[in-house]
Amino acid sequence: MTINWHDLIAKAWKDRKVLHESDEFDCWRVFHGYAEGAKSVVIEKFGTMAVVEYKEDIRDDLDAIKDALLQHFPFTLILAKGDQLLGLRLKERMFALHGDFSDAPEFVKEYGVYYSLLPDAMHNCGLYLDARPVRKWLADHSEGRRVLNLFSFTGSLGIAALKGGAKAAIHLDKSKDLLPRIEKSYKKNGLDLGTRSFIQGDIYKHLPKAIKRGQTFDGIILDPPPKVYKSPHSEHQPKGQDFARLVSLCSKLLNPGGWLICMFHRFDATWDQSDAEIITASTHTLKMIDRFTSECDFPDENVDRKLRVTVFEKI
Ligand SMILES: C[S@@+](CC[C@H](N)C(=O)[O-])C[C@H]1O[C@@H](n2cnc3c(N)ncnc32)[C@H](O)[C@@H]1O
Repeated sequence: MTINWHDLIAKAWKDRKVLHESDEFDCWRVFHGYAEGAKSVVIEKFGTMAVVEYKEDIRDDLDAIKDALLQHFPFTLILAKGDQLLGLRLKERMFALHGDFSDAPEFVKEYGVYYSLLPDAMHNCGLYLDARPVRKWLADHSEGRRVLNLFSFTGSLGIAALKGGAKAAIHLDKSKDLLPRIEKSYKKNGLDLGTRSFIQGDIYKHLPKAIKRGQTFDGIILDPPPKVYKSPHSEHQPKGQDFARLVSLCSKLLNPGGWLICMFHRFDATWDQSDAEIITASTHTLKMIDRFTSECDFPDENVDRKLRVTVFEKI
């Protein structure tokens, strides 16, 4: 082992003092390896569970990582998840380093809202931790609004909007398998999903139809994955998302005074260039009103690698 996990994790823990002293949430990224000394490793805390994800074969280091984590927090479960590119069999890829799967928390709590987890999901347990400030923003800016949550995944961003007083949140995602997970979070938060709050479909196909039907919203959340799944309904078929098309469609669905919150994970344009392209794609019907990024659990000196959140308002 060439990495001193004890020291790296101790430093990362200290750097996040403000997070673990907060009683507003029980989940954050414990170690952001890319910028903290081990670029293929990420460790996240979800309540009393830690998840260690690794993209290089560091299986010989896992015990040292577990011991270092237990020095700082009495985790009841520490899961190891190896990336599928390592070519390991499932049992070797995901297992409990400490504790038992039966100790896995079903929910985490953040700013008074519960989010359901699927701890043994191979990619993400259900909550993107870098988007914590986005969920906070939504809770603070959704009162009385009808909100469209695009690329909704487990619905967390729409649920944050609802708990912030949105009068409706409509989730749109191509995967129907997500519905039970959304339902579970709704129930725990005392919300009613009803039959019209989740739409399964391809966003590039669904939005033009929604425009034709004259639908409008007071807020739209746009958080597409960086890589496509190429949609036959996207006009340009670029390497990544068709950002311009998405913005153009969203701007037509927004009521004046409505907001569009964009999280565009792209490396082919600076943040300024990306936002200028959004305004152009909206034919100047949008203006920028806010910008922010992730918090201290996602340190990165390279601003272009950080989460970019920009909020626009329909003029
Ligand atoms: C990165 S997740 C979005 C994260 C989510 N906004 C959150 O904060 O939890 C990407 C989601 O986009 C969905 N997706 C990808 N392409 C889509 C498309 N063309 N239409 C609808 N959903 C799509 C996937 O099924 C997946 O659930």
